[in-house]
Amino acid sequence: MASSPAATAETFNYTVVRQFAIMTVVWGIVGMLVGVVIAAQLLWPQLNLDIPWLTYGRLRPLHTNAVIFAFGGSALFAASYYVVQRTCQARLFCGKLAAFTFWGWQSVILLAAITLPLGITTSKEYAELEWPIDILITLVWVAYAIVFFGTIVKRRSKHIYVANWFFGSYILTIAILHIVNNIEMPVSLWKSYSAYAGVQDAMIQWWYGHNAVGFFLTTSFLGMMYYFVPKQAERPIYSYRLSIVHFWALAFTYMWAGPHHLLYTSLPDWTQSLGMVFSLILLAPSWGGMINGIMTLSGAWHKLRTDPILKFMVVSLSFYGMSVFEGSMMSIRTVNALSHYTDWTIGHVHSGALGWVAMITFGMLYYLIPRLWGREKMYSTRLIEVHFWIATIGVVLYIASMWIAGVMQGLMWRATEPDGSLTYSFVESVKSTFPFYAIRLMGGALYLSGMLLMAYNVFKTVIGQTPVNPLIPLETDDPVRSIAASAHA
Ligand code: HEM
Ligand code: HEM
Repeated sequence: MASSPAATAETFNYTVVRQFAIMTVVWGIVGMLVGVVIAAQLLWPQLNLDIPWLTYGRLRPLHTNAVIFAFGGSALFAASYYVVQRTCQARLFCGKLAAFTFWGWQSVILLAAITLPLGITTSKEYAELEWPIDILITLVWVAYAIVFFGTIVKRRSKHIYVANWFFGSYILTIAILHIVNNIEMPVSLWKSYSAYAGVQDAMIQWWYGHNAVGFFLTTSFLGMMYYFVPKQAERPIYSYRLSIVHFWALAFTYMWAGPHHLLYTSLPDWTQSLGMVFSLILLAPSWGGMINGIMTLSGAWHKLRTDPILKFMVVSLSFYGMSVFEGSMMSIRTVNALSHYTDWTIGHVHSGALGWVAMITFGMLYYLIPRLWGREKMYSTRLIEVHFWIATIGVVLYIASMWIAGVMQGLMWRATEPDGSLTYSFVESVKSTFPFYAIRLMGGALYLSGMLLMAYNVFKTVIGQTPVNPLIPLETDDPVRSIAASAHA
């Protein structure tokens, strides 16, 4: 049965999904542009033009907030709102509240974009925003939880598809992390002090920081993966049982791994060992997810030759597997003694961020945009292919240069002469890093230009075509059915 876009729009709330999808592209460009600017500033510090708002220390948190919360956050709102509707075969619960989450989240981002360059910050990494914005985030997040879980409650299908488990756990965990880490005492409108002090503050901060990575940048994107990879490959997920087992293992294990950010600090030694051990255990469920995603292509490998959207998805899963392996290794004390404070960490971050988070998002957007606007396909498949190669080369240049730079820095800092004095001064290590900063800048600029191509392709798809392909009616949504088939297999 075919239905017109208008009829389908009555069934699903696509408005909010469309809004978030477009803002994902916009904030992706903004966030990565700031990333390119700070990468250039590390080469040419004078690029701050002696203007306080443009200094590295202020633009860096702007970059991290823009890419994680604005780009990643908008992508996750779009994905979760789309997936929960399709798989529950129900319209989003409370449209007005859903609209509030869109406008509320965009206001948070705008406030961040104003306050961070002004130097207004709590100085807690990834939780820099000051208390009035924290309160707004809390309100938006509670609304998000009501919309998401409300839709689950009113679902027409009995089954709760596994992607929703991943989205649900991310929504709940981020709520807890945000509230606990941001308990603070306001002293003025734009200044507050954390309720915690000293080593407790550090512990809470990195319990938050690590689980922000674990739930905002991982669990949630696995939810995205569990819907869009089977859909694009037109295959049921490889093992439904594995998806459930690794979901629970991941949720349980992530919580304990935070102290790997605080190795060799004044945190009690046993806590550091606990963090290290749990980080090593974490590799198993993480690879469970990667294997499940990649093996979903069993029987569909040939599609990789012609389908650039699937290429994005498979390469993102490979980067996911690589970055979690690397993270587990970096949690080993002796390895961390070399990697900590160096650009190796930055390489690790971006192999997860550019390789996994951003690439799976691109795959999702290319799948989603034509369907949301009732188009047959994206304006240009060729441009998707070009984007794929530009992004892949960009990310490889970025992370390979940072790995080499990081190991070099670590080795230079620890090198000593027979009399015990240091072989290299710190500034020598900085000078030796410049060529790698130049390569990283090139990689970042390439990656950004891929984003611009995507924006053009999205624009032409949305504006330039007349709707040709009626949106698929809710009854024909197949992951639930195909999943059921795989579960029985
Ligand atoms: C064009 C793309 C990008 C470029 C050029 C870029 C560049 C940079 C630079 C130069 C830094 C500072 C490194 C340092 O302090 O030594 C940084 C930090 C960071 N970036 Fe990016 N970035 C890009 C995309 C992304 C994306 C898409 C994400 C996340 C989804 C991301 C997440 C982060 C995080 C979390 C940090 C802080 C890392 C830490 O504190 O260890 N970046 N980025
Ligand atoms: C099994 C999974 C993972 C483990 C065990 C792990 C472990 C680690 C370790 C040991 C560090 C360095 C801490 C330090 O020396 O300061 C680190 C930093 C980081 N990782 Fe991972 N990682 C994992 C997966 C990921 C993924 C998938 C992403 C991104 C999508 C990611 C993002 C980050 C970020 C943003 C930092 C920098 C934090 C900061 O200092 O600002 N990690 N991770």
